[in-house]
Amino acid sequence: MISGKQTFACATALCAMAMAMTSASSSGQVGQTRTKQPTAHAALSETEVAARADALLQQMTPEEKAGQLSVLFALPIPQMMAANEKLVASGNLGALLFMTDPAEINRVQKIAVEKTRLHIPLLFGFDVIHGLSTIFPVPIANAASWDPDGVEKSQAVAANEARSVGLHWTFAPMIDIARDPRWGRIVEGAGEDPYLGSAMAAAQVKGFQGGHIGDTGRIIAGPKHFVGYGAALGGRDYDEVNLSDSELWNIYLPPFKAAVDAGAGNIMSAYMGLNGVPASANHWLLNDVLRKDWGFKGFVVTDNAAVTSLRTHGVASTLQDAAATALNAGVDMEMNIMGPAFTRLPAALAAGTISEQRLNEAVRRVLEMKIRMGLFDNPYVDEKAAAATLRSPAHLKAARIAAERAAVLLRNEQALLPLDRTKLSSIAVIGGLADSPRDAVGPWVFDQNKPAMSSILEGIKAKVGPKVRVDFAPGVALPDRLHPSPFAQIVGKVTRPTPESGDTAGIAQAVQLARQSDVAILVLGETQEMIGESASRSTLDLPGRQQELLDAVVATGKPVVLVLMNGRPLALKDTKAAAILDIWYPGSEAGSSTANLLFGDAVPGGKLPFSWPRNGGQVPLIYSHLASHDPANQSKRYWNEAGDPAYPFGHGLSYSTFAYSNIRVDKAERAPGVAVTVSADVTNTGKRLADEVVQLYIHQQGGKAARPVRELKGFSRVTLKPGEKRTLNFTLGDAELRYWSSATRDWALDATRFDIAVGGDSTAPFTTSFSLAQGAR
Ligand code: NOJ
Repeated sequence: MISGKQTFACATALCAMAMAMTSASSSGQVGQTRTKQPTAHAALSETEVAARADALLQQMTPEEKAGQLSVLFALPIPQMMAANEKLVASGNLGALLFMTDPAEINRVQKIAVEKTRLHIPLLFGFDVIHGLSTIFPVPIANAASWDPDGVEKSQAVAANEARSVGLHWTFAPMIDIARDPRWGRIVEGAGEDPYLGSAMAAAQVKGFQGGHIGDTGRIIAGPKHFVGYGAALGGRDYDEVNLSDSELWNIYLPPFKAAVDAGAGNIMSAYMGLNGVPASANHWLLNDVLRKDWGFKGFVVTDNAAVTSLRTHGVASTLQDAAATALNAGVDMEMNIMGPAFTRLPAALAAGTISEQRLNEAVRRVLEMKIRMGLFDNPYVDEKAAAATLRSPAHLKAARIAAERAAVLLRNEQALLPLDRTKLSSIAVIGGLADSPRDAVGPWVFDQNKPAMSSILEGIKAKVGPKVRVDFAPGVALPDRLHPSPFAQIVGKVTRPTPESGDTAGIAQAVQLARQSDVAILVLGETQEMIGESASRSTLDLPGRQQELLDAVVATGKPVVLVLMNGRPLALKDTKAAAILDIWYPGSEAGSSTANLLFGDAVPGGKLPFSWPRNGGQVPLIYSHLASHDPANQSKRYWNEAGDPAYPFGHGLSYSTFAYSNIRVDKAERAPGVAVTVSADVTNTGKRLADEVVQLYIHQQGGKAARPVRELKGFSRVTLKPGEKRTLNFTLGDAELRYWSSATRDWALDATRFDIAVGGDSTAPFTTSFSLAQGAR
């Protein structure tokens, strides 16, 4: 929960173990804190910040320095809190994560500020992934909006709520490219494409941080997990990652570069090994790429226990060795649930395995961040301010709009949607997820007792009013919760009717209900726990017996709207449901936004941020693959199934229709350093005010390395009135055309012809082209 009680997350086994230590909650003692309002902050000059940090640094002992480089979990476990507070009081701790109660934050901050020798305030961090109290759609849904400005606004609201409770730092955005949807963390990112992923990365950093670090009502962004985490073998969370330099530079690194360019104050290094070298011990990544090449000025924190686990990776033999290896590689701060390795840094200093200069550099980066955040001047938060901020009507409205803009209409035969409530007398709402406001907020929401404001079922009932009969049947039970016991201790017992192997009586009841109704709305998908960290699946099939339920309801012959609640594509087995609307995990306003979409008070305009496979056996499946051998038979690679996706990257329908014309380039030959403008006219040919996401793809015909069959290089979401035509212009300069070539092991800009496609998804035909003159770079 967000105020009044601390919250925690238990995505990892280690965390669950820690939780099992005790079930009591934290003490409620509130210190008499000197509360000061955060004041509007102009960016401090670099010299001023450096001078203040240096003045402190000169007074610090090695232990105090090492302490500044640790962020520890503050779970509501008495032993853990007592140990944390002892460390804080000794002046040997830099930051805490997972506290969200302003009074508790003030109380612990007071210890740091008033009881320690150097009065250095703590940084308080939290996984503010898609909202703190007002929950926005999950990040993959935000990406499906193809609306970076909207996403920036959503994260600004999230930052505002976080700052109001006393938080300074979020472990977000997650900007890992994900091309294997078996990996549960695909829900936290922007999908398969580096161009869309980079736009979303930059937008989120700006949303969290505002104009500069320390901006009023904003927090430090911590893009993660540097780098390659999304490419875990087999989609199995935490497993090793092996990427070619071409994949790394062209696909996985660009969102991080965009986040750094947008001014991210922090970067989180990943857990796993990249090409055999653990990401949190990778000097090349953390120094050559991040610092030297990109000029990153913030601090690097590891993912949880990534330093201590250097021993698991086998690259360090002792904790002291692990600490020295990570620090020397470029890690500035260690995150650990308990027992950090960085407490061994003073010993490493004495042993000469780390230098004082490197230790000071890391500490300076952390201190500078605290100075920039204004914490030395205003360490405390106004404990009463949060009440007016959290879930304010304006924030909830923003969440509803974001959910409406994120939804993707995958199919709409015979224009079944939008439903006309004036012509309906009865609706069958089927599926346990329809009645689950908790699942509707999705993963990475820790306030389990504050689910969505209303369920999908409630949203539908409220929309149609008393004249339309709305009946509900769960059909099949949802799979049981994955981690019921540790959560139950803190957030109240979680109950599920029965495990997924329940009998078929529920299906028969649902079929009966569908038969008696004008239309059936099935809400199917994955529960909140089946997606996110530590939630890989070996299949993309609908979990439990939902497919059986779907098939049985469709077989009634009644019009069926399938509403999907999911964070990864699901194999729908050629279902004949007439309409399929993907609402993802919509967040706090799940009920109202979904009802608006179903009944036409909002028009879907989202597009898929990944290719949607027919079947889990096809993954990884990407639109931007290389041509390779026998491209004419690209879609016939499997003898048992079509090889193309069920829905292509960029796909999404509307309640209106759009036509493209006059796609042109302003020059047939592009001289070095001169940009090409691509223009296209798009017309709303339907009868409704609606949005279209205009997408620009290029294909490079030749070069020293094979290039993808197509690559996204521009997009724009536009709102058009019926009959309205708009001309969109896109610019293609060096940044869009260059790529990392494994042939030369360098960036390349080849003199060749580029085909251009503009349209509403990644199957838009190539209709024009231009060439790049020799000598361009
Ligand atoms: C582990 C996750 O991998 C990371 O994304 C998260 O920020 C930390 N735990 C803290 O919760």
